[in-house]
Amino acid sequence: MCGIVGYVGLQSPQNFLIDGLEKLEYRGYDSAGVAVVNEGEIKIRKAVGPIVNLRKVIGDEDLGGRVGIGHTRWATHGGVTVTNAHPHFNSDKTIAVVHNGTVENYIELKAKLQAEGVEFISDTDTEVACMLIAEHFKKLGDLKAAMDAATKEMEGTFVLVAVAADQPDKLVAYRRNAPLIAAKGKNFNFVASDFSAILKHTKDVFLIENGDTVVLTKDAIEIFDEDDKPVKRELMHIGWDVDAADKGDYEHFMLKEIHEQPKGIQETLSRSLTEDDRIKLYGIDMTAEQLNSYNKIIIVACGTAYHAGLVGQYFIEKIAGIPVQIDVASEFRYRRQFIDEKTLFIAVSQSGETADTLEALREAKKQGAHILSIVNVVGSSVARESDEVFYTWAGPEISVASTKAYTTQLLCLYMLALYFADLKGTIEPDDYADYVAQLKRIPSQIEEILKKEQDIERLAYDYYDRDQVFFIGRGLDSSVAFEGSLKLKEVSYIPSFAIAAGEMKHGTIALMEPRTIVIALATQDAIFDKTVSNIQEIKARNAHIISIAKEGNTSIVNHSNEVIYIPECRDELTPLLTVVPLQLYAYFVAKDRHCEIDKPRNLAKSVTVE
Ligand code: F6R
Repeated sequence: MCGIVGYVGLQSPQNFLIDGLEKLEYRGYDSAGVAVVNEGEIKIRKAVGPIVNLRKVIGDEDLGGRVGIGHTRWATHGGVTVTNAHPHFNSDKTIAVVHNGTVENYIELKAKLQAEGVEFISDTDTEVACMLIAEHFKKLGDLKAAMDAATKEMEGTFVLVAVAADQPDKLVAYRRNAPLIAAKGKNFNFVASDFSAILKHTKDVFLIENGDTVVLTKDAIEIFDEDDKPVKRELMHIGWDVDAADKGDYEHFMLKEIHEQPKGIQETLSRSLTEDDRIKLYGIDMTAEQLNSYNKIIIVACGTAYHAGLVGQYFIEKIAGIPVQIDVASEFRYRRQFIDEKTLFIAVSQSGETADTLEALREAKKQGAHILSIVNVVGSSVARESDEVFYTWAGPEISVASTKAYTTQLLCLYMLALYFADLKGTIEPDDYADYVAQLKRIPSQIEEILKKEQDIERLAYDYYDRDQVFFIGRGLDSSVAFEGSLKLKEVSYIPSFAIAAGEMKHGTIALMEPRTIVIALATQDAIFDKTVSNIQEIKARNAHIISIAKEGNTSIVNHSNEVIYIPECRDELTPLLTVVPLQLYAYFVAKDRHCEIDKPRNLAKSVTVE
């Protein structure tokens, strides 16, 4: 999704901007550009494709100036062209604008401006925003006043950052329901879409609220709320180190992040357990009375986070006895919902900026639900708009394909369920203690699986050229099958399907043939025999079966062509382990197929459009 960086300081902005844009690359983009204000002129340089192309366009040129804005674009309005790339100019090139999000009424605004004689060269809504700001600037002579007047006319969710040729010491930014931070340095300041763009230079950031306008000079960050009153926003010191957003010795972020799972789980666990192994959720303070006042839970999320939610649904219902509804966020708002103050709404999101999830959260809040979120990015929109936040401490996830966020989301959901069960008195003390003890073993058990990396790499190599791969399982195994399938298709582009094993015989089994790969998850002891029957049906059609089972399960060998073992643990906790070989499998298949693993085609890390 689009990324924004703006700099005001004592030095020439271009390196800060391009450097920052490179750190935002993980969000996904198809073109990039910068604008610098220098001696009454705005210089814009843009290129389609990776940032290295922008570097080539600029070459050795020093754009000079002290104020600049940069942008990575993920095309929404208009194709991937240099003309459509940001920044955009107004007609006489005195204003330049970058933009993230969508201006929903841009067609009407464009028609109005065209009727006044304004000519457009791009297909974007951004150019419309730029022209509108410029029109107001002509009348008002002040960039902030022009931004305020223009944004009042715009509908949608967006961040806009503008510079003016005759205001060489400042930039103005505006936020409405899209991510924006302002970062404070000595003799310089930044605005950016997220922390990674600025971490190298400063770790002190203000979280900009909806409706805020920011005026940035080298010495000051002035923030005004939607009533135009100067406001102080929370200053946060970011704990992440710069290396967290670096590949280190790994070839890809995805592999690095798969390997970081034991650390992320350990970190999240240690922040949520007391010395005597009681679950104490930092950020969540619920009484039994409050929990008992909820008659249902709704979990809403997208993609991988939704798959984590499926496991959460199962475990909360099982041990806390609370009915849980789960929805993909993009569908949630378009069905009748039964929500009131007796509803506990749980949003799960790595980025905390996913538009679908945010909009679902806002709808649930409007209808009276209590909002609890499980989020990785501190201070993100989902976190800020929730009543309570339980952070996953996975660290920055750069690879577009989510891995460590998923396992830490699972862990948070397990802990939340145990916390609820304890509050409600639906779990025996021994059982509670056993679950906690087993959760504490998970990091070392994941390490055990990671030791099998070479075996999985070999397996991936043997079948990387197949046309389709199926993932099957029953119960919790089917939830992980969905995640395994998503991982494989997004990074390797192999068509892949996940299906509850028992459903195969109701239609999908028609697709089985000798070259078909079926990855069968068979870790649920309670329903193992049923899973084996389903595997047998497929094997009889000569498909190739790779099973995942718990160590010590010798019978599975008779039903499979290959078996990957995970360490022994309780049935309910296996998703934390079974997903790891699936992540590695997807990674190595994608590598064998020479795919762009960390930035798969057509995908963005943070999906801030609905
Ligand atoms: C898949 C993936 C996506 C995200 C989804 C939600 O690997 O990363 O499916 O899980 O876009 O994103 P967040 O968790 O940021 O709300």
